[in-house]
Amino acid sequence: MHRVISVIDVRNISKSFKSNGDVFTVLEDVSFRVVEGEIVTLLGQSGCGKSTLLQIIGGFLQANRGSVLFNGNEVKRPTKQCLMLFQQQNLLPWRTVLKNVLLGLENEGISANEKQKRAIEALQFVGLRDHMEQFPHQLSGGMQQRVAIARAFAMEPSIILMDEPFAALDTFNRYKLQDELLNIQVKKKSTILIVTHDIDEAVYVSDRVLIMQSNPGRIFKEINIKLSKPRDRTHDDFNYFRKKILDEFAVSGERPQLEYTI
Ligand SMILES: Nc1ncnc2c1ncn2[C@@H]1O[C@H](COP(=O)(O)OP(=O)(O)OP(=O)(O)O)[C@@H](O)[C@H]1O
Ligand SMILES: [Mg+2]
Repeated sequence: MHRVISVIDVRNISKSFKSNGDVFTVLEDVSFRVVEGEIVTLLGQSGCGKSTLLQIIGGFLQANRGSVLFNGNEVKRPTKQCLMLFQQQNLLPWRTVLKNVLLGLENEGISANEKQKRAIEALQFVGLRDHMEQFPHQLSGGMQQRVAIARAFAMEPSIILMDEPFAALDTFNRYKLQDELLNIQVKKKSTILIVTHDIDEAVYVSDRVLIMQSNPGRIFKEINIKLSKPRDRTHDDFNYFRKKILDEFAVSGERPQLEYTI
C-alpha cells in the first residue's frame, strides 16, 4: 500500500521556559501533520505559544520533548527547504529593497540575471517594484513587511512557515497578499503553515485550521475548511466557518481577538 509521508510531522512537542526559578510550560504535547501542498493555520490568541511552536518547527528553537520531521527526516536546525518568515521582519537597513530581496537568493545556484529576475518578480507580486532602489527606512512598516514577504517568495522554498505575515498590513494589502499567497501555493505546490490570530484570514487561506488553547498551549480543535478557492468573504458558507471557529473559542473559554490591525 502507498503510504503518504507528511511534509511536516510534529510529534508530541512540549516546551517549558524557566523564569525566576519557576518552570513555565508554554507548549504541551502538540502533534499534527501537514501534507504536501496543504495550507494549514495555527490560530490562537496572544501568548498561547504560536511563535514558540513555529520556531521549534523551523529548527530555530529546541523543544524539551518531541520531534519535528520534514519529509520523514528529523529537523535539528534550520534547513534550506524550509523558509521561516518571522513575526518581526529582518531587513538590513543599509541595503536597498532590491538588495534585501536578493539577499535571500545569495546561495542559490542560479545566474545573477536569474536572481535579479526572480527578485523583481517577487517585488512586483507585493506591489513594490517602484520602490526597489529605496532603503527600508524610507518605507512604511507595512511596506517593509512586504519586502520581507517578497524575499521569502523569491526563494521559492517547498515549505513556508509564516508568523503573522500580514498582521501589520492595511486591509487592502492584506487581502491582496493573501491572494498572492494562494497563487504562489498553486504555482509552486508549496506546503504552508501560517500562524495567525485573524479568524477571517484563517478561513480565507486555509485547508485546515488548528485552534490553540493557552496555558499550556495545545491544539484544541481541528477544522477542515471545505470550501473551494478562491473564497468569497461575504458568502454564507464563509460566515458559517467564521462562526464555527468563534464558537470553538467560546467552548474553550478563550476570548478571540476579532480584529487585529496596527
Ligand atoms: N525565550 C523565552 N523565555 C521565556 N518565556 C518565553 C520565551 N519566549 C516566549 N516565552 C513565553 O511563552 C509564551 C508564548 O509566547 P509566544 O511568543 O510563543 O506566543 P504567541 O502565541 O506567538 O503570541 P503573539 O500572538 O502575541 O505573538 C508567552 O507567555 C511568552 O512570554
Ligand atoms: Mg507570536
